[in-house]
Amino acid sequence: MDGQGRSDLQTSETGTRALESLLGFWAEAGVDTAFTDEPPVDRVAERVRPQPAAPHAPATPAAAGPDVSGAIDEARRLAAEAQDLAGLAAAIAAFDGCGLKFEGARQAVFSRGVADAPVMVIGEAPGADEDAQGQPFVGRAGKLLDKMLAAAGLADRVFITNTVFWRPSGNRNPTAQEQLVCAPFLERAIALVQPRFLLLAGGASAKAMLQRPEGILSLRGRWFDWTSADGALALPALPTLHPAFLLRQPAAKKRAWADILMLSERLDRPERPLGG
Ligand code: URA
Repeated sequence: MDGQGRSDLQTSETGTRALESLLGFWAEAGVDTAFTDEPPVDRVAERVRPQPAAPHAPATPAAAGPDVSGAIDEARRLAAEAQDLAGLAAAIAAFDGCGLKFEGARQAVFSRGVADAPVMVIGEAPGADEDAQGQPFVGRAGKLLDKMLAAAGLADRVFITNTVFWRPSGNRNPTAQEQLVCAPFLERAIALVQPRFLLLAGGASAKAMLQRPEGILSLRGRWFDWTSADGALALPALPTLHPAFLLRQPAAKKRAWADILMLSERLDRPERPLGG
């Protein structure tokens, strides 16, 4: 390649990175919709694949069509059958109802950390490093998350997972439907781990877990009540900024640090006796 070709390529790579960073900034700030004059495209219908008629029959990509509620029912059934985290990981890996699985992900990415941790960290979706290694938060953002958790004394007190278990192509945010389809597995993980608190990392996690319209910059640093779909589980949940956002916007680190300290302080605060 001649000098001009190389320089054009570098310029376009720099431009792509700048664009990704800018889009990430807006997405993290809660701006997740762009309006155009074009008619809407139903991306969900393009991505969510139906469950096979027989529960264990092989999936048939050619017959794909949207059946979100069928996929959710199947996820609920499989999740309920899982008696422990290993069983849940296996059920997720075998599940064909989330379209993300068929977008080029190499493997399912479920969890890492302590099986009975008092804190469950819930991120958005696996990225390229997680897809390659099969564990959540193992890339640059994960390293930053680990450093912050360790500095707050939480390194060995967390179980880490995501709202979806396959890497979305191009590192886009997962859709609400993809998160809904994966939610029964996430809820089962919460039931098995029995954490005391949830730490929701990033806008896509906070939005899915809390069903609130505000952006993460408004939600972060405030406690909310998270309740499972069937109402059987309820926990205090604290949204915070996503570590990938902090890598792009280092000035925001102090806000995320304040959130993590708030969590660690609450964790170590003695429970008030009933009636006290
Ligand atoms: N970002 C997330 O939200 N989760 C991961 O596992 C990695 C990056």
